[in-house]
Amino acid sequence: MPVMLFACFHVDTQAWKAALAAADPGLEIRVWPDIGDPAEIDYAFVWKQPKGVLDGLPNLKAVFSLGAGVEHVLLDDSLPAHLPLVRMVDPTLVSSMVEFVVMRVLHYHRHMPTYEQQQREGLWKPLSQTLASDRRVAILGLGELGAASARALTGFGFDVLGWSRTAKDIAGIRCFHGPDGLEAMLAQADILVCLLPLTDQTRGILNRRTLSLLPAGAFLINAARGGHLVEDDLIPLLDGGRLAGATLDVFATEPLPTDHPFWTHSAITILPHTAALTHPGTASRIITANIARHRTGKGLVNVVDRAKGY
Ligand SMILES: NC(=O)c1ccc[n+]([C@@H]2O[C@H](COP(=O)([O-])OP(=O)(O)OC[C@H]3O[C@@H](n4cnc5c(N)ncnc54)[C@H](OP(=O)(O)O)[C@@H]3O)[C@@H](O)[C@H]2O)c1
Repeated sequence: MPVMLFACFHVDTQAWKAALAAADPGLEIRVWPDIGDPAEIDYAFVWKQPKGVLDGLPNLKAVFSLGAGVEHVLLDDSLPAHLPLVRMVDPTLVSSMVEFVVMRVLHYHRHMPTYEQQQREGLWKPLSQTLASDRRVAILGLGELGAASARALTGFGFDVLGWSRTAKDIAGIRCFHGPDGLEAMLAQADILVCLLPLTDQTRGILNRRTLSLLPAGAFLINAARGGHLVEDDLIPLLDGGRLAGATLDVFATEPLPTDHPFWTHSAITILPHTAALTHPGTASRIITANIARHRTGKGLVNVVDRAKGY
Protein backbone atom coordinates (compact mmCIF):
# COMPACT_ATOMS: atom_id res chain seq x y z
CA MET A 1 0.00 0.00 0.00
CA PRO A 2 1.57 3.38 -0.99
CA VAL A 3 2.03 5.87 1.83
CA MET A 4 1.54 9.63 1.37
CA LEU A 5 2.86 12.29 3.70
CA PHE A 6 0.22 15.04 3.94
CA ALA A 7 1.99 18.32 4.74
CA CYS A 8 -0.52 20.90 3.51
CA PHE A 9 -1.07 23.84 5.84
CA HIS A 10 -3.90 26.38 6.07
CA VAL A 11 -6.33 23.89 4.49
CA ASP A 12 -9.14 21.69 5.83
CA THR A 13 -7.08 18.57 6.57
CA GLN A 14 -10.11 16.40 7.36
CA ALA A 15 -11.78 17.31 4.05
CA TRP A 16 -8.58 16.48 2.17
CA LYS A 17 -8.10 13.18 4.00
CA ALA A 18 -11.67 12.19 3.20
CA ALA A 19 -11.31 13.19 -0.45
CA LEU A 20 -8.00 11.35 -0.89
CA ALA A 21 -9.44 8.24 0.79
CA ALA A 22 -12.49 8.38 -1.50
CA ALA A 23 -10.26 8.77 -4.56
CA ASP A 24 -8.01 5.86 -3.59
CA PRO A 25 -8.94 3.78 -0.52
CA GLY A 26 -5.61 1.97 -0.96
CA LEU A 27 -3.55 5.09 -0.25
CA GLU A 28 -2.37 5.48 3.34
CA ILE A 29 -2.27 9.12 4.48
CA ARG A 30 0.03 10.25 7.27
CA VAL A 31 -0.50 13.82 8.41
CA TRP A 32 2.66 15.72 9.31
CA PRO A 33 4.19 15.59 11.96
CA ASP A 34 2.80 12.09 12.75
CA ILE A 35 4.65 10.43 9.90
CA GLY A 36 5.57 7.11 11.54
CA ASP A 37 8.58 5.39 9.98
CA PRO A 38 10.05 7.96 7.51
CA ALA A 39 11.35 5.10 5.34
CA GLU A 40 7.75 4.09 4.54
CA ILE A 41 6.80 7.41 2.93
CA ASP A 42 6.46 7.08 -0.85
CA TYR A 43 4.87 10.41 -1.82
CA ALA A 44 4.50 13.84 -0.24
CA PHE A 45 1.65 16.29 -0.75
CA VAL A 46 2.58 19.83 0.29
CA TRP A 47 1.24 23.36 0.54
CA LYS A 48 2.66 26.29 2.51
CA GLN A 49 4.68 23.75 4.45
CA PRO A 50 7.39 24.79 6.88
CA LYS A 51 10.86 24.32 5.42
CA GLY A 52 12.40 20.96 6.17
CA VAL A 53 9.32 18.70 6.12
CA LEU A 54 10.82 16.69 3.26
CA ASP A 55 14.07 16.04 5.11
CA GLY A 56 14.99 12.46 6.00
CA LEU A 57 12.51 10.58 3.76
CA PRO A 58 14.87 8.06 2.10
CA ASN A 59 12.26 6.40 -0.13
CA LEU A 60 10.33 9.46 -1.26
CA LYS A 61 9.46 9.09 -4.95
CA ALA A 62 7.64 12.29 -5.87
CA VAL A 63 6.29 15.51 -4.36
CA PHE A 64 2.85 16.89 -5.24
CA SER A 65 1.93 20.56 -4.81
CA LEU A 66 -1.63 21.40 -3.79
CA GLY A 67 -1.31 24.59 -5.81
CA ALA A 68 -0.64 25.27 -9.48
CA GLY A 69 2.23 27.51 -8.41
CA VAL A 70 5.24 25.76 -6.91
CA GLU A 71 7.56 28.57 -5.80
CA HIS A 72 6.76 27.64 -2.18
CA VAL A 73 8.16 24.15 -2.74
CA LEU A 74 11.17 25.20 -4.81
CA LEU A 75 12.30 27.54 -2.01
CA ASP A 76 12.42 24.58 0.40
CA ASP A 77 15.97 23.20 0.55
CA SER A 78 14.64 19.88 1.83
CA LEU A 79 13.19 19.14 -1.64
CA PRO A 80 15.65 16.58 -3.05
CA ALA A 81 17.07 17.75 -6.36
CA HIS A 82 16.44 14.45 -8.16
CA LEU A 83 12.75 14.05 -7.25
CA PRO A 84 9.91 14.92 -9.59
CA LEU A 85 7.81 17.85 -8.38
CA VAL A 86 4.25 17.72 -9.68
CA ARG A 87 2.05 20.83 -9.80
CA MET A 88 -1.72 21.02 -9.72
CA VAL A 89 -3.42 21.06 -13.11
CA ASP A 90 -7.16 20.61 -12.65
CA PRO A 91 -9.92 21.69 -15.06
CA THR A 92 -12.05 22.92 -12.13
CA LEU A 93 -9.18 25.16 -11.00
CA VAL A 94 -8.97 26.51 -14.52
CA SER A 95 -12.71 27.20 -14.74
CA SER A 96 -12.64 28.94 -11.33
CA MET A 97 -9.88 31.23 -12.52
CA VAL A 98 -11.73 31.92 -15.77
CA GLU A 99 -14.81 32.92 -13.74
CA PHE A 100 -12.71 35.24 -11.62
CA VAL A 101 -10.94 36.91 -14.53
CA VAL A 102 -14.16 37.36 -16.53
CA MET A 103 -15.94 38.76 -13.45
CA ARG A 104 -13.30 41.41 -12.80
CA VAL A 105 -12.74 42.31 -16.45
CA LEU A 106 -16.49 42.83 -16.93
CA HIS A 107 -16.59 44.83 -13.68
CA TYR A 108 -14.08 47.31 -15.05
CA HIS A 109 -15.31 47.17 -18.64
CA ARG A 110 -18.87 48.09 -17.55
CA HIS A 111 -17.73 51.01 -15.33
CA MET A 112 -18.88 49.31 -12.11
CA PRO A 113 -16.47 51.23 -9.83
CA THR A 114 -17.92 54.51 -11.11
CA TYR A 115 -21.55 53.34 -10.90
CA GLU A 116 -21.00 52.11 -7.34
CA GLN A 117 -19.59 55.51 -6.41
CA GLN A 118 -22.52 57.25 -8.16
CA GLN A 119 -24.96 55.12 -6.15
CA ARG A 120 -23.26 56.22 -2.92
CA GLU A 121 -23.78 59.83 -4.08
CA GLY A 122 -27.38 59.24 -5.24
CA LEU A 123 -26.30 60.21 -8.75
CA TRP A 124 -28.20 59.00 -11.86
CA LYS A 125 -25.69 59.45 -14.67
CA PRO A 126 -25.38 56.97 -17.58
CA LEU A 127 -21.87 56.72 -18.98
CA SER A 128 -21.02 55.97 -22.59
CA GLN A 129 -20.11 52.30 -23.01
CA THR A 130 -16.99 51.21 -24.88
CA LEU A 131 -17.61 48.20 -27.14
CA ALA A 132 -15.90 44.99 -25.99
CA SER A 133 -14.16 44.87 -29.36
CA ASP A 134 -12.54 48.22 -28.53
CA ARG A 135 -11.42 47.11 -25.04
CA ARG A 136 -7.95 45.62 -24.99
CA VAL A 137 -7.45 43.01 -22.31
CA ALA A 138 -3.89 41.71 -21.91
CA ILE A 139 -2.97 38.54 -20.06
CA LEU A 140 0.51 37.96 -18.65
CA GLY A 141 1.01 34.19 -18.95
CA LEU A 142 -0.60 31.96 -21.57
CA GLY A 143 -0.44 28.67 -19.68
CA GLU A 144 -3.29 26.60 -18.28
CA LEU A 145 -4.96 29.57 -16.58
CA GLY A 146 -3.93 32.41 -18.87
CA ALA A 147 -4.83 30.71 -22.15
CA ALA A 148 -8.24 29.58 -20.85
CA SER A 149 -8.99 33.07 -19.53
CA ALA A 150 -7.91 34.62 -22.82
CA ARG A 151 -10.16 32.26 -24.78
CA ALA A 152 -13.13 33.03 -22.53
CA LEU A 153 -12.61 36.77 -23.01
CA THR A 154 -12.56 36.39 -26.78
CA GLY A 155 -16.03 34.87 -26.38
CA PHE A 156 -17.24 38.27 -25.13
CA GLY A 157 -15.65 39.94 -28.13
CA PHE A 158 -12.79 41.62 -26.28
CA ASP A 159 -9.58 42.48 -28.09
CA VAL A 160 -7.39 39.98 -26.23
CA LEU A 161 -3.61 40.10 -26.03
CA GLY A 162 -1.37 37.55 -24.32
CA TRP A 163 2.28 37.33 -23.28
CA SER A 164 4.38 34.24 -22.72
CA ARG A 165 8.03 33.24 -22.51
CA THR A 166 8.00 31.31 -25.78
CA ALA A 167 6.31 32.38 -29.00
CA LYS A 168 2.70 31.22 -29.44
CA ASP A 169 0.06 31.28 -32.13
CA ILE A 170 -3.41 31.11 -30.59
CA ALA A 171 -6.46 31.80 -32.73
CA GLY A 172 -8.19 35.05 -31.81
CA ILE A 173 -5.44 36.24 -29.43
CA ARG A 174 -2.71 38.70 -30.26
CA CYS A 175 0.34 36.90 -28.91
CA PHE A 176 3.54 38.53 -27.62
CA HIS A 177 6.60 36.99 -26.01
CA GLY A 178 9.89 37.91 -24.42
CA PRO A 179 10.98 41.25 -22.95
CA ASP A 180 10.36 43.27 -26.15
CA GLY A 181 6.95 41.69 -26.53
CA LEU A 182 6.08 42.70 -22.98
CA GLU A 183 6.66 46.39 -23.61
CA ALA A 184 4.76 46.30 -26.89
CA MET A 185 1.81 44.60 -25.22
CA LEU A 186 1.68 46.78 -22.13
CA ALA A 187 1.38 49.91 -24.27
CA GLN A 188 -1.93 48.53 -25.55
CA ALA A 189 -3.46 47.07 -22.40
CA ASP A 190 -6.58 48.78 -21.05
CA ILE A 191 -6.99 45.94 -18.55
CA LEU A 192 -3.91 43.91 -17.51
CA VAL A 193 -4.34 40.47 -15.93
CA CYS A 194 -1.37 38.71 -14.30
CA LEU A 195 -1.43 34.90 -14.46
CA LEU A 196 2.30 34.21 -14.44
CA PRO A 197 4.17 31.75 -12.25
CA LEU A 198 6.45 33.39 -9.68
CA THR A 199 10.04 32.81 -10.81
CA ASP A 200 13.31 34.74 -10.67
CA GLN A 201 12.34 36.22 -14.06
CA THR A 202 8.81 37.31 -13.10
CA ARG A 203 9.29 38.49 -9.50
CA GLY A 204 8.47 42.20 -9.30
CA ILE A 205 7.35 42.34 -12.93
CA LEU A 206 4.43 44.61 -12.00
CA ASN A 207 6.31 47.73 -11.00
CA ARG A 208 6.34 51.49 -11.52
CA ARG A 209 8.22 51.21 -14.83
CA THR A 210 6.16 48.45 -16.43
CA LEU A 211 2.81 49.69 -15.13
CA SER A 212 3.64 53.19 -16.40
CA LEU A 213 3.78 51.73 -19.91
CA LEU A 214 0.03 51.02 -19.73
CA PRO A 215 -2.34 53.58 -21.27
CA ALA A 216 -3.41 56.13 -18.67
CA GLY A 217 -6.44 54.93 -16.73
CA ALA A 218 -5.75 51.21 -17.15
CA PHE A 219 -6.82 48.57 -14.65
CA LEU A 220 -4.70 45.83 -13.07
CA ILE A 221 -5.91 42.39 -11.98
CA ASN A 222 -3.30 40.29 -10.14
CA ALA A 223 -4.47 36.74 -9.55
CA ALA A 224 -1.03 35.11 -9.70
CA ARG A 225 1.31 35.76 -6.76
CA GLY A 226 1.93 38.72 -4.48
CA GLY A 227 5.62 38.66 -5.40
CA HIS A 228 4.79 39.79 -8.94
CA LEU A 229 3.78 43.24 -7.71
CA VAL A 230 6.13 45.79 -6.18
CA GLU A 231 3.51 46.80 -3.63
CA ASP A 232 5.03 50.20 -2.77
CA ASP A 233 4.68 51.25 -6.43
CA LEU A 234 0.93 50.69 -6.72
CA ILE A 235 -0.69 53.45 -4.68
CA PRO A 236 1.36 56.28 -6.27
CA LEU A 237 0.30 55.00 -9.71
CA LEU A 238 -3.36 54.95 -8.66
CA ASP A 239 -3.24 58.34 -6.96
CA GLY A 240 -1.37 59.84 -9.91
CA GLY A 241 -4.02 58.63 -12.36
CA ARG A 242 -1.77 56.24 -14.31
CA LEU A 243 -3.94 53.39 -13.09
CA ALA A 244 -7.70 53.62 -12.48
CA GLY A 245 -8.08 50.57 -10.27
CA ALA A 246 -6.59 47.29 -9.13
CA THR A 247 -7.97 43.94 -8.08
CA LEU A 248 -5.53 42.01 -5.92
CA ASP A 249 -6.09 38.40 -4.90
CA VAL A 250 -2.53 37.76 -3.76
CA PHE A 251 -0.05 39.68 -1.62
CA ALA A 252 3.60 39.67 -0.56
CA THR A 253 2.44 38.82 2.96
CA GLU A 254 -0.69 36.72 3.42
CA PRO A 255 -2.95 37.31 5.25
CA LEU A 256 -2.58 40.96 4.27
CA PRO A 257 -1.47 42.80 7.44
CA THR A 258 -4.35 44.73 9.03
CA ASP A 259 -2.49 48.06 8.81
CA HIS A 260 -1.61 47.66 5.11
CA PRO A 261 -2.63 50.77 3.09
CA PHE A 262 -4.26 48.61 0.38
CA TRP A 263 -7.18 47.84 2.73
CA THR A 264 -8.49 51.39 2.74
CA HIS A 265 -7.67 52.54 -0.80
CA SER A 266 -10.89 53.21 -2.70
CA ALA A 267 -9.48 52.01 -6.05
CA ILE A 268 -8.19 48.69 -4.74
CA THR A 269 -10.32 45.56 -4.40
CA ILE A 270 -8.87 42.93 -2.09
CA LEU A 271 -9.60 39.21 -2.13
CA PRO A 272 -8.09 36.69 0.30
CA HIS A 273 -6.26 34.50 -2.28
CA THR A 274 -9.46 32.87 -3.48
CA ALA A 275 -9.44 33.51 -7.23
CA ALA A 276 -9.18 29.77 -7.87
CA LEU A 277 -9.16 27.38 -4.94
CA THR A 278 -7.97 23.79 -5.33
CA HIS A 279 -11.01 21.57 -4.75
CA PRO A 280 -10.27 18.50 -2.60
CA GLY A 281 -12.66 16.23 -4.53
CA THR A 282 -11.42 16.85 -8.04
CA ALA A 283 -7.78 17.40 -7.11
CA SER A 284 -7.59 14.19 -5.08
CA ARG A 285 -8.74 12.18 -8.08
CA ILE A 286 -6.06 13.85 -10.21
CA ILE A 287 -3.28 13.16 -7.66
CA THR A 288 -4.24 9.54 -7.04
CA ALA A 289 -4.53 8.87 -10.78
CA ASN A 290 -1.03 10.29 -11.19
CA ILE A 291 0.28 8.06 -8.37
CA ALA A 292 -1.36 5.07 -10.06
CA ARG A 293 0.44 5.98 -13.29
CA HIS A 294 3.73 6.17 -11.44
CA ARG A 295 3.20 2.84 -9.71
CA THR A 296 2.50 1.11 -13.01
CA GLY A 297 5.66 2.49 -14.58
CA LYS A 298 4.04 5.25 -16.63
CA GLY A 299 5.51 8.70 -16.32
CA LEU A 300 4.01 11.27 -13.99
CA VAL A 301 2.16 14.10 -15.69
CA ASN A 302 2.41 17.83 -14.87
CA VAL A 303 5.99 17.57 -13.63
CA VAL A 304 7.60 20.97 -13.03
CA ASP A 305 10.66 21.92 -15.06
CA ARG A 306 12.93 22.93 -12.21
CA ALA A 307 15.26 24.89 -14.50
CA LYS A 308 12.37 27.10 -15.64
CA GLY A 309 10.81 27.25 -12.17
CA TYR A 310 7.28 26.35 -13.31
N1 LIG B 1 -4.78 33.27 -7.06
C1 LIG B 1 -5.08 32.00 -7.19
O1 LIG B 1 -6.07 31.54 -6.60
C2 LIG B 1 -4.24 31.12 -8.05
C3 LIG B 1 -4.69 29.82 -8.32
C4 LIG B 1 -3.92 29.02 -9.14
C5 LIG B 1 -2.74 29.50 -9.70
N2 LIG B 1 -2.34 30.76 -9.42
C6 LIG B 1 -1.09 31.29 -10.04
O2 LIG B 1 -1.21 31.21 -11.46
C7 LIG B 1 0.06 30.85 -11.99
C8 LIG B 1 -0.08 30.33 -13.41
O3 LIG B 1 -0.65 29.04 -13.40
P1 LIG B 1 -0.73 28.16 -14.74
O4 LIG B 1 -1.25 26.83 -14.35
O5 LIG B 1 -1.44 28.91 -15.80
O6 LIG B 1 0.83 28.07 -15.13
P2 LIG B 1 1.46 27.48 -16.46
O7 LIG B 1 0.50 26.59 -17.16
O8 LIG B 1 2.78 26.94 -16.06
O9 LIG B 1 1.67 28.76 -17.40
C9 LIG B 1 2.63 29.74 -17.13
C10 LIG B 1 2.64 30.75 -18.27
O10 LIG B 1 3.51 31.83 -17.88
C11 LIG B 1 4.46 32.02 -18.92
N3 LIG B 1 5.73 32.48 -18.38
C12 LIG B 1 6.50 31.92 -17.43
N4 LIG B 1 7.62 32.60 -17.23
C13 LIG B 1 7.58 33.63 -18.11
C14 LIG B 1 8.47 34.70 -18.43
N5 LIG B 1 9.65 34.85 -17.80
N6 LIG B 1 8.10 35.57 -19.39
C15 LIG B 1 6.93 35.42 -20.04
N7 LIG B 1 6.03 34.43 -19.79
C16 LIG B 1 6.37 33.56 -18.84
C17 LIG B 1 4.62 30.68 -19.58
O11 LIG B 1 5.17 30.85 -20.87
P3 LIG B 1 5.44 29.60 -21.86
O12 LIG B 1 4.04 29.14 -22.26
O13 LIG B 1 6.20 30.19 -22.97
O14 LIG B 1 6.16 28.56 -21.06
C18 LIG B 1 3.19 30.16 -19.56
O15 LIG B 1 2.47 30.67 -20.65
C19 LIG B 1 0.57 29.83 -10.97
O16 LIG B 1 1.96 29.69 -11.04
C20 LIG B 1 0.14 30.45 -9.66
O17 LIG B 1 1.14 31.30 -9.17
C21 LIG B 1 -3.06 31.58 -8.61
